[in-house]
Amino acid sequence: MSEVVVKPTAEAVAAEAAERLVQAAQAAVARRGRFRVALAGGNTPMALYRLLVAEPYRQRMPWPQAEVFWGDERHLPPGDPGRNDTAVLPLLAEAGVPPAQIHPAPYIPDNPDASARAYEVALRRGWDAGEPLLDAALLGLGTDGHTASLFPGTPALEETARLVVANRAAYEDRHPERITLTLPALAETGLILFLVTGAAKREAVRRALAGPEDPPLPAQRVRSRFGPVVWLLDEAAAP
Ligand code: 6PG
Repeated sequence: MSEVVVKPTAEAVAAEAAERLVQAAQAAVARRGRFRVALAGGNTPMALYRLLVAEPYRQRMPWPQAEVFWGDERHLPPGDPGRNDTAVLPLLAEAGVPPAQIHPAPYIPDNPDASARAYEVALRRGWDAGEPLLDAALLGLGTDGHTASLFPGTPALEETARLVVANRAAYEDRHPERITLTLPALAETGLILFLVTGAAKREAVRRALAGPEDPPLPAQRVRSRFGPVVWLLDEAAAP
C-alpha cells in the first residue's frame, strides 16, 4: 500500500520529508528514547539533509538521540567521495549526533559479503523485541526502478532472511559493488519515505506506482509491516 504526496518543487519535497521525519523521530524518542533511521544515498536527499541540520529543523530533530545508518553503500574505503556517507558525515557532526551513534557501512577490502554481514550485526544491535528495526528509512529511486542497492534482476532482491547483503550492479557512473538493506529489513521499518524528484524519474515512478509488472520493479516490492510506504514527489517526477 502506498501514500503518494506531490509537491510543486524539490525544495517543497525536502520540507515535507523533514516534517515527517521530525514527527517520526519525536514519536520514537518519546516511546523508547531514541530514533533509528537509515538514510538514502544518491543526490536527491542532500537538500533534505542540509535542511535537517539547519534551523529550525536542527532544534526540532532529536539528533542527540538519533542512531544513523545507511540504506545502502557503495563498497569503497571510508572517505571515498563515491560513498553515500562521505558528504553526509560532516552534516551529522554539525547536527550534534554523537559519533558512537553514527553507523557508516563497514568496508572490508575485497569482501563486500563480510562487510554486509558486519553491517547486519551493527544494525541488529539495539533492535528491541517488538520494536521496528528502524523507525524510518529514506529511499531514492533509480531510473531503472531500483531502490537502495536493490537492482532489477539481482540476487539481493530475492533475499528472504538476511537484513543486509552485498550486491553488484552498474548504474550511471557509480561504483558497482554495493551493500544494501534487503526487503525483509525494509519490511521491519516504521516509516518508509521515497523521495523522488525531476522529470528523469517520471517513467520509473509511473511504473513503480502503476504496477503490476512482471517481474515487479524493486521499488514496487518495498513494503513495511507498520504502515503505508510514502512517496514524496515533485510535480516533475509525478506521472
Ligand atoms: C545509491 C542510492 C540509490 C539512489 C538512487 C537515486 O547508492 O546510488 O542509494 O538507491 O537512491 O540511485 O539516486 P539519485 O537521487 O542520485 O537520483
